[in-house]
Amino acid sequence: MKTQSNEFKKRVVYQIYSSSFYDSNNDGWGDLKGITAKLDYLKDLGIGIIWLSPVFVSPMDDMGYDIADYKNINPRFGTMEDFDELLEEANKRDIKIVMDLVINHTSTEHEWFKKAIEPEENKYRDYYFIKEGKGKKHNKMPNNWQSCFTGPAWKKIDSLPGYYYMHLFCDTQADLNYYNEEVIKEVEDILRFWLDKGVYGFRCDVINKIRKSSLKDDHTRPLYFKGLKYYSNQDNMFKILTRFRTEVLDDYDTFLVGETGELNKEVGNRFLNERCLDMFFEFDHTNADKTFLPVFKGKFKTKKLVKPIFKWQKIVPWIALYLENHDQLRSVNRYGNVDKYYKESAKLLALFLLTLKGTPFIYQGEEIGMLNYEQVKYEDCKDVAAIYTTETVQKLLRFNRDRAFKIVNETINRDHARVPFAWSNSVNGGFNAGHETWLKVNDLYKKINVKDEENDSNSILNFYKKMIRFRNNDDVLKFGDFKDEYVKKNIVSYYRNYEGKIYLIVLNFSDKKAKYCNLLNVKTLISNYENEIDFNDLPPYFAGIFEVI
Ligand code: GLC
Repeated sequence: MKTQSNEFKKRVVYQIYSSSFYDSNNDGWGDLKGITAKLDYLKDLGIGIIWLSPVFVSPMDDMGYDIADYKNINPRFGTMEDFDELLEEANKRDIKIVMDLVINHTSTEHEWFKKAIEPEENKYRDYYFIKEGKGKKHNKMPNNWQSCFTGPAWKKIDSLPGYYYMHLFCDTQADLNYYNEEVIKEVEDILRFWLDKGVYGFRCDVINKIRKSSLKDDHTRPLYFKGLKYYSNQDNMFKILTRFRTEVLDDYDTFLVGETGELNKEVGNRFLNERCLDMFFEFDHTNADKTFLPVFKGKFKTKKLVKPIFKWQKIVPWIALYLENHDQLRSVNRYGNVDKYYKESAKLLALFLLTLKGTPFIYQGEEIGMLNYEQVKYEDCKDVAAIYTTETVQKLLRFNRDRAFKIVNETINRDHARVPFAWSNSVNGGFNAGHETWLKVNDLYKKINVKDEENDSNSILNFYKKMIRFRNNDDVLKFGDFKDEYVKKNIVSYYRNYEGKIYLIVLNFSDKKAKYCNLLNVKTLISNYENEIDFNDLPPYFAGIFEVI
């Protein structure tokens, strides 16, 4: 067993959305050489680990989360040599690389799937859930499960009349069958392949759904969650993940972060105690600006964001911290203020993210306060989930397409955070030299971009740099215990405590002045306002770290 450095507990992670980071060859797509070219930017930001969204061979129906070959690079992103160069250059700068591991499903263009649906039966048939339809004519779906992107989870197979395959996501993402020992072995082989190359670990996509316990109909859930209880967090899923650890991962200094859902205290702790994952992403806090159905926007409430985060701080010893990723809308639009207090609120969110206990994940563009892509039209939308959901909303509410898309666009259209990264105010925001981009650029690049942020000492980017450096060198923020004080309306406060040193963090999530009552003797360490502040009169969107003396 290899000694574990647990470096993931000391570093800040940066998620690169590979298609949209930097296009070095001006073909409209971000690429590996583009990432290598920007490593110094990440180093300067203080980043210690990169999570690379999928760069494997893929038809890109779900932007690479539909893998057709796990051991080769999608030519859109470059070659394996480009990948090796990225790894080497990152290594030189002491930046580790984490890959996206998408093993709940493969693309239907994967060789396994193509063989699986050949009329002549072969071993690959059992790699997937390929089932005969119900009814005399086998023309009814094998069960009533729904895809997470809405719509049925089964699709007819033309080459096998009467048969269907299961897809929990879009219909070109076929679910793998983890009852099959060979599938598990294939995954172990993929893990070794990338670990032997020198990658540090994996972000495990929808990992809590890999094992289906039964294929029964589910009549107990609302339409869009049918099946959930039969495929989320099943006993055998934990066993498979523990096996990956003991059979493969223990031979390397590595780590796994999981995208998990349907969590509770027991499930969360099982992931860690059974060594399935080193940490996971919880989703409770992402409902802070939604109604009971995630597709409908609700009013943002500070407590709906902060309380779930506090809850998880107390439930598990370590967690993945995030406010944004490639599936979420931009955080300043959601939890901050895009008008008068844009800068202050973006900095507040930075300070919040970087003062909690766990590993912070920053999503590309978050560090310069990138905002949603407001000018988007249905015709330009590339997000497969948004397209599926628009159709469903149209059908269910009898809305026309544009009206349905408007609803979807306000809450779940993932294109908002996927537009090309804004490096400067030149053509296409400096993402490339002017070639049409795979997804339209957000015109806001003229106002919000890296170059301008670098030149402004008071910018959001410079605040992120300051915060990350502070955290990288500070044991209280990295390792200290967490203790919440309160969430009163929009005032949030908590403590971090390490070996007798205590920090108090105070945040004002509102555009109004507010009072924070605490008579402690404190010294300001960092805040998003330059002047000394009065606790009885906290300015709008104030955020600060104080040392208790
Ligand atoms: C995860 C990914 C998301 C993808 C889905 C299916 O949720 O983050 O982008 O669409 O899995 O792979």
